[in-house]
Amino acid sequence: MVLIKLLYPLAVVTVLPMVGCSSGGSGSGNPSSSSSTSSSSSSSNSSTGGNTTTTLTFANLHVLAGFPVGTAVSAGNESFSIMHSNANAASQRNIIEQHFSQITPGNIMKMRYLHNTYGTFTYEQADALIDYAAAQGKGIHAHALIWHRSYQVPDWVNESEDLQSHLDHHISNIAEHFAGKVDSWDVVNEAIDRNAEGVWGYRDSVFYQKLGKSYIPNAFITARAADVDAELYYNDYGISSADGKFQFMLQMVDELLADDVPIDGIGFQMHVFMTWPDISHIRSAFEQVADRGLKVKITELDIPINNPFGGEYSYPDNYVSNFTAEDAYAQKQRYCQIVEAYLQAVPIALRGGITVWGVYDGDTWLNSELFSNNHVDWPLLFSTNFLPKPAAQGVGDALSGRAC
Ligand code: XIL
Repeated sequence: MVLIKLLYPLAVVTVLPMVGCSSGGSGSGNPSSSSSTSSSSSSSNSSTGGNTTTTLTFANLHVLAGFPVGTAVSAGNESFSIMHSNANAASQRNIIEQHFSQITPGNIMKMRYLHNTYGTFTYEQADALIDYAAAQGKGIHAHALIWHRSYQVPDWVNESEDLQSHLDHHISNIAEHFAGKVDSWDVVNEAIDRNAEGVWGYRDSVFYQKLGKSYIPNAFITARAADVDAELYYNDYGISSADGKFQFMLQMVDELLADDVPIDGIGFQMHVFMTWPDISHIRSAFEQVADRGLKVKITELDIPINNPFGGEYSYPDNYVSNFTAEDAYAQKQRYCQIVEAYLQAVPIALRGGITVWGVYDGDTWLNSELFSNNHVDWPLLFSTNFLPKPAAQGVGDALSGRAC
């Protein structure tokens, strides 16, 4: 067995040597003018003869939940922006308007989009998205005030000799601008990492290097001062397996709570796989957060069929480039079980909601970031041709209290 450290978006899993990655597969984004999301039962995979799309038994997914059911969107000038005037955007908006009650901007509210040059804030793209959401009666989960990933860290952060006051200005200006218009914020995103010795601790980001861990409580305090109503989340990946990273996060959160830092909840990104993490670990992680009186929000759920890291957590046994009816059914079960675990573990008052990371399989970040564009996967609730998949029915089943 070999230990492979996953670069992104996961924790470390014990794996066998990597399984082969076949290139090709079915096409990605397949813009069509179809606007139906509930009346077609065509298959998006003719090679197997089985249905990988379905007719939903409900009209609106979000209506089944007593909490926000969200989706991340591409917006602004992004390739698959829902704000474009084209058929692809119109098809995505149809899905959003019918099935989701909350929107997370997948990129356009990150640091470089809103505040690339120190003191100059660029709100046009985010404002346009928020206007659209408001007109449709949809909420916004805003993402993210502080994130380490280098391509989203503005130069002023690296150059600053007074970073804490510059970050305060960053957060105050942005959170004030959107106050009253967003439900919640990912205040700090992904601040935990493993060090070279494999020990979990604070990520060695530019923020940590310059300020130590104090940038984290300060970010929450500044965000709350600027927007008293928005729920404030710490958001991270690889924590739903309830292992070492999760334990370190709990320690961090306990300190924040002991110091009366205004944190309302934990965002579990949940870029998970078909068989990892184990559902009992997911449930336990949710419970341990809820036990602290914090909200639990699933912020970025997606479930690819293929696991490029293979090993004991792989599904299926061989890398697949065709999405079969069998895969679609297994994915439906997995989505259903995760939502069911959420409902079992999180008391009603602490349910921050469930968001999937993308509207449809044609716009999933995993194709490029996890599969390096060598493979196309099908991790979301709606197909490349904008039709509902069994996965969407699985979420609806769990929300309706049906057995998975
Ligand atoms: C991803 C976006 O989906 C991609 O379009 C972008 O290229 C990279 O970032 N965790 C997060 C999100 O918190 O911000 C990331 O979004 C996905 C992982």
